[in-house]
Amino acid sequence: MRLSASFGAAMASTLAVCRLHMKGRGSLSKCLQKVDTFLHRTIGTNVVAVKEEREGCKSLYGVQAARQEQAERSVLVSCHARTNEKNFLKYLSRHGDINKYFFYESYGMYAVVEFANRESLASLLEEAAIPSISHESMVPFKSRLLSLRNLGSADAPNQRSGQQCQPQTTIPINELIQRLSREESIEQQITSLTDVYQLTEENSRLRFLVCSLLKDIAAAYFPECTINPFGSSVNGFGKLGCDLDMFLDVDGISGRNAKMPKSGLWLEYQMKRASSERAVTQSLLSVIGDCVDQFGPGCVGVQKILNARCPLVRFAHQPSGFQCDLTANNRVAMKSTELLYLYGELDPRVRHLVFTVRCWARAHGITSSIPGAWITNFSLTVMVLFFLQRGSPPIIPTLDHLRDLAGPGDKNVIEGNDCTFVSDFSKIQLLSNTETLEKLLCEFFEFYSTFAFNRMSISIRKGNEQNKPEVAPLHIQNPFETSLNVSKNVNATQLDRFVALCQESSWLLHQSDTNTPRGGNAEKAPTPWGLATLLMPSQVAGIKGRKKRRREPASERIKSLLESLKNTNQHKKS
Ligand code: GTP
Ligand code: MG
Repeated sequence: MRLSASFGAAMASTLAVCRLHMKGRGSLSKCLQKVDTFLHRTIGTNVVAVKEEREGCKSLYGVQAARQEQAERSVLVSCHARTNEKNFLKYLSRHGDINKYFFYESYGMYAVVEFANRESLASLLEEAAIPSISHESMVPFKSRLLSLRNLGSADAPNQRSGQQCQPQTTIPINELIQRLSREESIEQQITSLTDVYQLTEENSRLRFLVCSLLKDIAAAYFPECTINPFGSSVNGFGKLGCDLDMFLDVDGISGRNAKMPKSGLWLEYQMKRASSERAVTQSLLSVIGDCVDQFGPGCVGVQKILNARCPLVRFAHQPSGFQCDLTANNRVAMKSTELLYLYGELDPRVRHLVFTVRCWARAHGITSSIPGAWITNFSLTVMVLFFLQRGSPPIIPTLDHLRDLAGPGDKNVIEGNDCTFVSDFSKIQLLSNTETLEKLLCEFFEFYSTFAFNRMSISIRKGNEQNKPEVAPLHIQNPFETSLNVSKNVNATQLDRFVALCQESSWLLHQSDTNTPRGGNAEKAPTPWGLATLLMPSQVAGIKGRKKRRREPASERIKSLLESLKNTNQHKKS
């Protein structure tokens, strides 16, 4: 968060800009207990228990509760590109202190503004005008997505606006390759890639704000619902520009956790019965999907995909630029998200390696944003985790071990599947493994270059290869629904491409003309090397291209890799 020089001390005294008020458990619940009545609707007050932070690791629930609460005090304002930052903040701060704000561009300029108090937000919304349109009709639905209008002369055309935009998308791959080529070690390249690609603080806030805006729509029917992001928006492995997976949670009113009084009289709601839980999910998503389509400002291209294994509503949220997937009754995916988040928090190498492998896979078309026979980011992440469990000593524990460490409060069974694992990070003892990221990356490629995919299944629950229970080319056991294969969609061609690319990348990392910095200066673009080379499809082009190049004497290990590659090719021909 940066302040312009012109935005001086005078404003600093009235606005608590740039300070992130992470409220403690007491004030958070106090704040959440207040029922806001703005927009003539109740804003949900679902309190998620903020779990203790231990040893510097915040539980996902803690992070989500704090982010949700911030989002509920925030507005999204479309403004003119020349909007004067100082005037804008002065205007808004008439309603109360602003905790944090930032500008970004997505089909126009937008600002996210977080107030210190909900009352300020209510006051601002009270004052906002209804747009007057003479020749069009509009849906009279008020939301926290607003437009800034200016009839005065405050923002003269030649006046500098002063605001700096926070990027919400990644830099192009060729720019990334140049940046990485300037680094001095592969280790630095890997950490630099994570720094450049990971979700920023602002992008994360925007994701929770979009969930909160959506929740306002769903709350018209289900005031107690929550809409939480899951998947890569919150699991620690999200890249700028990744989709926004959302989970509409009506568990508070589903009867699932209802407690019946032991005796005496009581009243209960009459509720319509449905044929199955899936049918409830489908009708709920169908109605909310229609509301999003008809009433949701900025929500376009709404598709209801209700017959999928996991029914969903897909749409684009234009003001944020997010591609959104709204699901309901998807609690196993929430648990997977929590598990991936936990693994990412245990050791920084986990996130770095996952980021690197995801980016490498995308650069070579191993993964894609279009559904198909390719490996998904989720499967790929599980493959990295499995590899890290196979080190000696292992860098991360198995899921079975995490389950054994669970306390009574961690017990969680979803539709018959045991999703229990420890939530108290301090109970997890890590073994001393000090391998560098460079070595781990090499070993990852070697590991999957020679993995017996034809016979073995990958299981992060057990942390070792299991016999494949079915004939699918790639078998990755679903961590919680253990009879399912998360990579059932992957065909033999895609798996072969993955293995061949692992072999090529491993080979390249052992070449001295690839694995050492290649110079370059401020004027001249640096020659790609190390990880940068691995991200260039033309460099990792297949065995034919490689044969033409001057080769270093191969080590025994690389010789055997090449041998295995040759055998695979012969096997395919026969
Ligand atoms: P990107 O969106 O590609 O950045 O990654 P993502 O992790 O968000 O993947 P995706 O949007 O495809 O899925 C969202 C979440 O749903 C994942 O993080 C998982 O928690 C869960 N998920 C996705 N695919 C599967 C699957 O095949 N099985 C299970 N159990 N969960 C899945
Ligand atoms: Mg996703």
